[in-house]
Amino acid sequence: MRRRISRDVESCGSMYFKQILDERCGCASYLIASRQSHEAAVVDPSIEIEQYRALLAERDFTLRYVIDTHVHADHVSGGRKLAAAHGADLCLHESARVSYPFRRLRDGEDLALGQLKLHVWHTPGHRPELISVLVINPPRSPEPSMVLTGDSLLVGDVGRPDFGGGDAAAQYDNLSRLLRLPDWVAVFPGHFEGPCGKGMCGRPSTTIGFERLYNGLARLDRAGFVATLNDGVPARPLNMTAIEATNRGTADMPWAMLTGHAPVDEVDVAAAAGRPSDAVLLDVREPAEYHHGHLPGAINLPQSELATRLSELPPDRPIYTICQGGFRSLRAAQFLKQVGIANVVSVRGGTQAWADAGRRLDLGDTRVARPKIAESEWTHACRT
Ligand SMILES: [Fe+2]
Repeated sequence: MRRRISRDVESCGSMYFKQILDERCGCASYLIASRQSHEAAVVDPSIEIEQYRALLAERDFTLRYVIDTHVHADHVSGGRKLAAAHGADLCLHESARVSYPFRRLRDGEDLALGQLKLHVWHTPGHRPELISVLVINPPRSPEPSMVLTGDSLLVGDVGRPDFGGGDAAAQYDNLSRLLRLPDWVAVFPGHFEGPCGKGMCGRPSTTIGFERLYNGLARLDRAGFVATLNDGVPARPLNMTAIEATNRGTADMPWAMLTGHAPVDEVDVAAAAGRPSDAVLLDVREPAEYHHGHLPGAINLPQSELATRLSELPPDRPIYTICQGGFRSLRAAQFLKQVGIANVVSVRGGTQAWADAGRRLDLGDTRVARPKIAESEWTHACRT
């Protein structure tokens, strides 16, 4: 019966499209299929691949392509696992520097999916290997109806350029290229929230026309755009070092992704001041933030390096995590609980609350440039 239904819609050039949102990391992945040929592609899969297997089975789709738009730094990709489980091609841009084999995509290339064409654009800026995928359904239209932008164009924002190999000027050029698409093209980004941008609207999709009119970055000239992108970003993501290495295939640390919602006690700055003498006060901010003012006795271990430097934490001593405003420290404390460190609390309000209470801050090497970190309040994932 299922096959008969698919033949009935064959002449329409019918397709299947589903956006799958991951609330834990603010990521979006996509399943695209031809209802005509029953061939499917998954773009930017989460590490939890069972959801795609279930969808594919339910719809009687065969997975042909798994596409990672780029090497992610904030979440562990399910790309290799999913492609291997289904015998699909694992696809990345040809410039991707990873240690495992993959199908090398080039700018301008089309991947055929039944009657559909997945048209590849190389749109570096956030990352050097980043691609966008234009979806074209020729029986309906010769032009693309949607574009999956990874972290190039986000809703109300663009991907930040400071994750290694990024380039704000290239981001400007590729944003301009994307914004020359027709107004009606629907935009589906790789994130709807999270640390990969600094001003995402929160909607999971938009259109080229809306972004051209109302994305503040789209109205800047090149110099203004580059200056804005380089002028203050959120801190590097929790465990970025371990996650990026895992996605490159040079490490195997999928546990570095914060997945649990372990409750964490938050204490105020007075409790931090009166902490037990054997407690470790762990400042998880960026080093430059630490150098320009930290609590006396605090040691610095940036959240981006927490997973790769766990062995530096003394075992069996209480840990007080602290950051600038209390958001990063909460997520860091959750992660420490996730890996089995039970005796950990987070300092509410962070270093800012300590300073506001008139307490003394120690300085480190203030020859280091004062950081421009935009404190992110993106914390719901650890408060549920
Ligand atoms: Fe990204």
